[in-house]
Amino acid sequence: MIRLEGIVAGYGGGNVLQGVTLEVSGGELGCIVGPNGAGKSTVLRVVSGLLAPSAGTVHLDGEDITGLPPHEVLARGVTQVPQTNGLFSNLTVRDNILMGAYVIRRKRALVKERYERVLDLFPLVKDRTGIKCGNLSGGQRRMVEFARSLMLDPGLVLLDEPSLGLDPKSLGVIDEAVAIMLQAGKAVLMVEQNVRFGLRMANTGIVMESGRVLMTAPADQVLDDPEIADLYFGGAVRKDLDAEAAATATPDPIQKEGSAP
Ligand SMILES: Nc1ncnc2c1ncn2[C@@H]1O[C@H](COP(=O)(O)OP(=O)(O)OP(=O)(O)O)[C@@H](O)[C@H]1O
Ligand SMILES: [Mg+2]
Repeated sequence: MIRLEGIVAGYGGGNVLQGVTLEVSGGELGCIVGPNGAGKSTVLRVVSGLLAPSAGTVHLDGEDITGLPPHEVLARGVTQVPQTNGLFSNLTVRDNILMGAYVIRRKRALVKERYERVLDLFPLVKDRTGIKCGNLSGGQRRMVEFARSLMLDPGLVLLDEPSLGLDPKSLGVIDEAVAIMLQAGKAVLMVEQNVRFGLRMANTGIVMESGRVLMTAPADQVLDDPEIADLYFGGAVRKDLDAEAAATATPDPIQKEGSAP
């Protein structure tokens, strides 16, 4: 379980996060939504150790990991799927996945065992281990990135905008990969610009604005909240429209410019 309490953090030019509190349990998906610049990616940076907070605490399974450097956080089982292009195009799927086990590369038997387990979790990846990643579709590449992130058997997986750059037809890949992770008992903390898409998958919705958490609630409640709908969907979300939107996966109004597939 990951818990942030009262996190204050910034980049030197003032504080971006102004007291962020949130938590996600094992087997659950917490999805952070909010406008550009709200501080969503900054929250992930604090968790992964890339940015030390000036106040507040981060606890992982009860252990205080506040301010630990990234390699220490990684060693405690927190992995991040990078926003885009995290794979080496000229290497095979197999080699890219093994790269995820770099820090434990000397434990050969363990790496082999993990590799086999990860392939069993992702049959689509298993069928393509000999293919160079440059020859995969966007959705397939994302699936390999997910598989790689599990090589260290993390307890917590951080996802920053996994839908970014994927065409609507490939979004199902994320659903599938996240479901696999949750079934394996991982906690997943995700940031998603495509608000409806993210909240539909999530257990908990965390709405951020200007470095603060405006609302934390079961994700369906966040989706149904009229105020949130006004803020982010340009009006209340009607269920029938919602179903239609799912079918066409129209990007939300706050989708980043230029990031639409
Ligand atoms: N490396 C950095 N150095 C200085 N300021 C930064 C840095 N990274 C982010 N910021 C600033 O911190 C604020 C929050 O950025 P952050 O990336 O966390 O927002 P976000 O919610 O993830 O936005 P987006 O939806 O655009 O990804 C922004 O004002 C941004 O300009
Ligand atoms: Mg961001």
